[in-house]
Amino acid sequence: MKILSGEGDYNKVKAELKIYGYFKDNIKIVLKSLPPGIVKHVESQLKEAKNGLRFLSQDGTWYSFLKLEDKKRVTTESYRRIGAGAAKDAEAVHANRVVVVMPSGNISTDDAACALTEGIVLARYSYDDLKTSSDDKKAGKGPGPVISVYSFDRKKVSGKVMDRARMVADAVNEARGLADAPSNLMTPTVFTKEVSAEAKKQGVRVKVLDRPVLQKMGWGAFLGVAQGSAEPPKVVILEYKGSKKTGWYALVGKGITFDSGGISIKPSSGMEDMKFDMCGAAAVAMTTILAARLRLPLNIVAVMPLTENMPGGRAQKPGDVVKTLSGKTVEIISTDAEGRMILADALNYAVKTYRPKAIIDLATLTGACVVALGTEASGIMGSDDKLVKALIKAGEESGDRLWELPMWDDYKDLLKSEVADIKNAGSRWAGTIQGGIFLKEFIGDANWAHIDIAGTAYLEKPKPYFKRGATGAGIRLLVQFFEGL
Ligand code: BES
Ligand code: MN
Ligand code: ZN
Repeated sequence: MKILSGEGDYNKVKAELKIYGYFKDNIKIVLKSLPPGIVKHVESQLKEAKNGLRFLSQDGTWYSFLKLEDKKRVTTESYRRIGAGAAKDAEAVHANRVVVVMPSGNISTDDAACALTEGIVLARYSYDDLKTSSDDKKAGKGPGPVISVYSFDRKKVSGKVMDRARMVADAVNEARGLADAPSNLMTPTVFTKEVSAEAKKQGVRVKVLDRPVLQKMGWGAFLGVAQGSAEPPKVVILEYKGSKKTGWYALVGKGITFDSGGISIKPSSGMEDMKFDMCGAAAVAMTTILAARLRLPLNIVAVMPLTENMPGGRAQKPGDVVKTLSGKTVEIISTDAEGRMILADALNYAVKTYRPKAIIDLATLTGACVVALGTEASGIMGSDDKLVKALIKAGEESGDRLWELPMWDDYKDLLKSEVADIKNAGSRWAGTIQGGIFLKEFIGDANWAHIDIAGTAYLEKPKPYFKRGATGAGIRLLVQFFEGL
């Protein structure tokens, strides 16, 4: 597939499919931009159409009209949805040459083109590596259509902006591919291999820590989780140096390739979705690789602790106490609160080794976050208000949204242990905040933000530009944040 910035008169360009987005409350704009023959045909129907309208004109061109909100209610999200609609139309009529004409509202042409491009690329993704019939495989295969993007007002759409959007959305789709793969095919070892190969292609330095080294170093919390699984655990570290200046930004991603809950085992219904418990690791890996592809002028280190969480003869048990890399001891109340255990060591390692200017972790950490925010925003907490605010802003700008939860010290009581320095789980209340409070014990005085992507990292039901499955949540947010520094 190619997505190009269109030039010249879009009505004169030859295409098999022409797509027009239009505002619900202002069909005049779209009518003005159409060839007269088509105006007659659609004028009466556009208003009544529920989502839009598609037909084959006499000259053999497909026309599609995608209906949007009222002009003043349109956001970049609306353009992502036009992009998705355009991708679906192109597939439905098997068009190879496609023209998309964007309406101009309150959004700048560049922002609109960026969102539209993202919508197209994200909507075309599908995970069908494992389908063997050729019918099922056809989506996403082959060269795909050439899509030219125009603005109603004939303002030139920036090709540069669209290229960047394309690279971001491609990285998001690559992360989705890592996460949609089932856990028997995406073990810590496989994840390490695939991410390392791609990172090296971009000149990103790769380090891998295996069990013996981790043992010597004292990653007791991480290895405690890993000991119930037959799959060897790994810690992958990517170092991208895009600036000669010193100083790092650190990313940490939860990489549980399957979360059975361990001895505190989860109910079996829906457990298959726990292959997505490595979405944090996939997101920080692809963010770092994307930063390298975009040659962002800063230094990023990503630390990804990877393991399964399984019940086994050697698995850790409720009541066990482990010594973390920080030296603090943790009483395991639930072996299903494993994410914070592996992050505790990874965060502590990253802080001590890199002394980062800021450290951000991404994790599918708590079911409570899905209850609180659903699929519309990830939860954020942190030790540095400026960092948290900057991330929230990047979330608004990228459409990869965040919502802040409080982290008052009063919550600490929930995790007081009788036998160790802290316990890994408390009562049912404030479940997401408990995760944040726990992690805070391991970051020293670093500028830190914790992002809980449990509700956003994968979808049970599709959205306009996301199929059921992984979404790559966090990547669009983090590049936007890094570009804004
Ligand atoms: N990976 C889960 C969190 C999760 C649940 C993500 C549902 C996505 C959807 C995490 O490891 C977990 O099991 N958390 C527990 C914590 C509890 C035992 C303190 C939870 O949320 O129930
Ligand atoms: Mn768990
Ligand atoms: Zn988990």
